[in-house]
Amino acid sequence: MRSEVKIGLALTALLVAVTAAGAASIKNTKHDLSSGSTGATFKATNTDQICVFCHTPHNAQQDIPLWNRGNPTASTFTLYSSSSMNNVPVKQGFTADSISLFCMSCHDGATGLGGAVHNDPNGAAIAMVGGNDLITGEANLGTDLSNDHPVNFEVTPAGIAADGNLGALDTGTNPPTMKTGDVTNGLPLFKSARGATTLECGSCHKVHDNTDAPFLRTTMAGSKLCLGCHKK
Ligand code: HEC
Ligand code: HEC
Ligand code: HEC
Ligand code: HEC
Repeated sequence: MRSEVKIGLALTALLVAVTAAGAASIKNTKHDLSSGSTGATFKATNTDQICVFCHTPHNAQQDIPLWNRGNPTASTFTLYSSSSMNNVPVKQGFTADSISLFCMSCHDGATGLGGAVHNDPNGAAIAMVGGNDLITGEANLGTDLSNDHPVNFEVTPAGIAADGNLGALDTGTNPPTMKTGDVTNGLPLFKSARGATTLECGSCHKVHDNTDAPFLRTTMAGSKLCLGCHKK
């Protein structure tokens, strides 16, 4: 009897876990910094809103994507570049409209997590539990991204042809994507001052969905994500 109850409970727990994993949501992930979040390593004391840390419906700091944060200075970042790259990287600095710079408004380890500009309706500045307002550890990428995969560079048909081992560009989709035969869904490219098909953090990461941790577009099992763009 007791063990049947236990099995019943275990099954219920399993069903709950499966349901939670199936529902792609930012809720209770590390990107849910709301006071009630069960997945966050950093969270607020005084707001149970989730989107407010990054978005606002009105008076945004940056129109797209209704950004509610002050971004760090784009020119202070150093990006990856190498002589073997065929697409043209720019070592010194992001463009101000780079979606990757938006990620760095928390992942630079220097810009406050609670620094959302509008925190309506109560208006008070967001305070974080234990005063922990800065990312530390591995998720703090700093401002030197020369040891991180290249971002904020335009992927071009000429660059792909010269490389010879990259997936194909598809500009007929919204957003445009690139993909090899190893993935079903193309990996998205973004618009920035560098071009309409710029590779950014969001090409590999899905900020609102942790189904493939850590917030990845697809699994790293068998390096599927990498093989989605590189024919190696
Ligand atoms: C940690 C920061 C962060 C939080 C929190 C966040 N977003 Fe976003 N959101 C982004 C970024 C960055 C982009 C643009 C880049 C991208 O889509 O990868 C974006 C894009 C969007 C877009 C436009 C593109 C798309 O994916 O459809 C919508 C709509 C959106 N967010 C809605 C929401 C809502 C609703 C919430 C709260 C439930 C939320 N976001 C919470 C960072 C965040
Ligand atoms: C509002 C602040 C904020 C913004 C903006 C933000 N993040 Fe994060 N992110 C966090 C915090 C906080 C963590 C948890 C850090 C920790 O646990 O040390 C995190 C963790 C992560 C992780 C690691 C998750 C894990 O399981 O270890 C990834 C990957 C990530 N973020 C990617 C991104 C990308 C890509 C963007 C932009 C599209 C972005 N983040 C924008 C706050 C942010
Ligand atoms: C080419 C794909 C790719 C790009 C582009 C990319 N990431 Fe990642 N990122 C990954 C993968 C894969 C992991 C998990 C493996 C690992 O931890 O090394 C990861 C892990 C992370 C983590 C967890 C900490 C860590 O070091 O493992 C953070 C935070 C993160 N990424 C943020 C970002 C931000 C911010 C950007 C843009 C500046 C970005 N990523 C661009 C693929 C990418
Ligand atoms: C969204 C597509 C995409 C994904 C996913 C991706 N890459 Fe890349 N990667 C590129 C592009 C495009 C370049 C630039 C290649 C060039 O121009 O020669 C690049 C460049 C690189 C370089 C530098 C090459 C050089 O010549 O200096 C390395 C190394 C690399 N990627 C490894 C990886 C690994 C490992 C993964 C998986 C964690 C990964 N990439 C995932 C698109 C991607």
